[in-house]
Amino acid sequence: MRIKTFEEYQVAYKQSVDDPEGFWAEVAQQFQWRKPWKKVLSWDFHEANVKWFEGGVMNITENALDRHLAERGNQPAIIWEPNNPEDQAVSISYNVLYDRVCRFANVLKKHGVKKGDRVCIYLPMVPELTVAVLSCARIGAIHSVVFGGFSAKSIADRINDAACTMVITSDGAFRGSKVIPMKETVDAALDQCDTVKNVIVMTRTRTPVSMLKGRDHWWEEEVKHVDSNCPAEPMDAEDTLFILYTSGSTGKPKGVVHTCGGYMVYASYTFANVFQYQPGDIHFCTADIGWITGHSYIVYGPLCNGATSVVFEGIPTYPDAGRFWQIVERHKVNIIYTAPTAIRSLMSYGLDYVKKYDLSSLKTLGSVGEPINEEAWHWFKDNIGGGTCPLVDTWWQTENGGIMISPLAGITPEKPTFATLPLPGIQPVLVDENGKEIEGNGVSGNLCVKFPWPGIIRTTYGDHERCKQTYFSTYPGMYFTGDGCMRDEDGYYRITGRVDDVLNVSGHRIGTAEVENAINMHLGVVESAVVGYAHDIKGQGIYAYVITEEIPDDPDMFRKDIAATVSRIIGPIAKPDKVQFVTGLPKTRSGKIMRRILRKISEGDVNNLGDISTLLDPTVVEDIKKGAY
Ligand code: WT7
Repeated sequence: MRIKTFEEYQVAYKQSVDDPEGFWAEVAQQFQWRKPWKKVLSWDFHEANVKWFEGGVMNITENALDRHLAERGNQPAIIWEPNNPEDQAVSISYNVLYDRVCRFANVLKKHGVKKGDRVCIYLPMVPELTVAVLSCARIGAIHSVVFGGFSAKSIADRINDAACTMVITSDGAFRGSKVIPMKETVDAALDQCDTVKNVIVMTRTRTPVSMLKGRDHWWEEEVKHVDSNCPAEPMDAEDTLFILYTSGSTGKPKGVVHTCGGYMVYASYTFANVFQYQPGDIHFCTADIGWITGHSYIVYGPLCNGATSVVFEGIPTYPDAGRFWQIVERHKVNIIYTAPTAIRSLMSYGLDYVKKYDLSSLKTLGSVGEPINEEAWHWFKDNIGGGTCPLVDTWWQTENGGIMISPLAGITPEKPTFATLPLPGIQPVLVDENGKEIEGNGVSGNLCVKFPWPGIIRTTYGDHERCKQTYFSTYPGMYFTGDGCMRDEDGYYRITGRVDDVLNVSGHRIGTAEVENAINMHLGVVESAVVGYAHDIKGQGIYAYVITEEIPDDPDMFRKDIAATVSRIIGPIAKPDKVQFVTGLPKTRSGKIMRRILRKISEGDVNNLGDISTLLDPTVVEDIKKGAY
């Protein structure tokens, strides 16, 4: 299962293409199954149907916890680093984590949560978040983790879409110098939800919160009165493990569904091989568990490999820009996995914050979430990795379950800004607009994958047709990623960014339509169009063109009000960086907004707009170029 040399990679890759079922069966055998599978794979990309390890019975928590107890029960599973560096870090052994998961699983059961029920988790980065996730998995409940930065409305939409019956949250969250309400936000969400019967509230900030009798319960009280024994629910490999919402080109986020067996195999296999994890390594993934990166590389991947996973509550710049490096020194971190946006931000503070700390424990660096520019790549490699640590630029998506295209640390020859080569089992193809495969090297196209892998999305929750439409209909017979990509002369892949109406802002995926819908809800707004523009730190910034009913008297105030509305509707991560008030939008005769033109203008590239003759009213372009009103 573990690849150790480039030759072994080539052999494994070839085997995975020649005999995918044999290849993945061998990998899957390394895990603990209650009952072996009957069929390794059945698939039909036209109908968006994929099944792995059908008939196999297992529980992912037995692989993440029980399996390790005999050998490494006292080894830390989690090292929790609180927001404030003055507060003591907390180390949680596999024994203790097992105990806490079983207890909390019994709390869920006590409140009537059963296999297949959906549980919404809205928590800061505290150990209880991992406990809550694993407790759901223990009893076969489906977790839907919602990132702590989302608004009440976003929470409500997600709860309603999945008809969740329980919410797990905290009183508040510490984030840098701020205290952020959590329960209050959940309360506001629940005013719009009918399905939730119980709310469990963990104490973090001691912020006063309203507790509704009969519905709300304190975490700390609940766990006192339950048994510490909770047998794992037997799960079919294809039973749903979790739902995670992600943005697409339409206004409504989709619930990406991952199942137990394939996801476990894929997240764990990629963790071990990409990072070249060795027993005893301390792994620090800086993502939030509210995103797929955290699901796969803070919780499931590391724990299924018996690793020690650092959970960090805070932000990279609090109390100063040395925080990540302080954590590396403090916990002797061996693997750090972070995002280009964080690297670019920390770069801008200078090297003094880096030099203060001993980073010699580091063995592997990882990057994820957006294309990494050359400057950030070298800065990370040279200043954090001492020029010698391998740097893996890992490309993948929420829908993929785990890393798809990436170097294997120290094995695959690196090339800055390239995600390099597909992992075993991944068959990428580049296609042109007509869906024709572009063969050979030194070419660019839209990135598709032509064969299933165990971590692939199974459906979008409650709407299979949408899954088919979004991923499997653009290029029939293939999974379409939505990304543009080039393959260079060496056959190396470089992801160039989204080719659809999806933005990547600080590694967060945001649909332009979602932001437009939110802006359009603001009083006095007639219509809006949102595009991304190159932003030094965030990768992409959000540029909104807004038509208002009347010329704003105080445009700056109006901009701030619009930002407040977007924050309220989606969350602060979706606030536009720039708002330009315009009198019209460049539309074709069929009423479609030509974003290409707006993108160019937002980049300041106004003399290169291309053909605008098909516009209904080409004069709007001149007005927009002049800055309109
Ligand atoms: C989109 C997926 C699962 C990773 C976290 C984000 C972009 C991701 C890279 C990379 C260039 C990347 C793509 C992709 N992306 N990693 N290494 N190089 N682009 O997951 O929110 O589902 O977003 O992030 O555009 O489609 P996500």
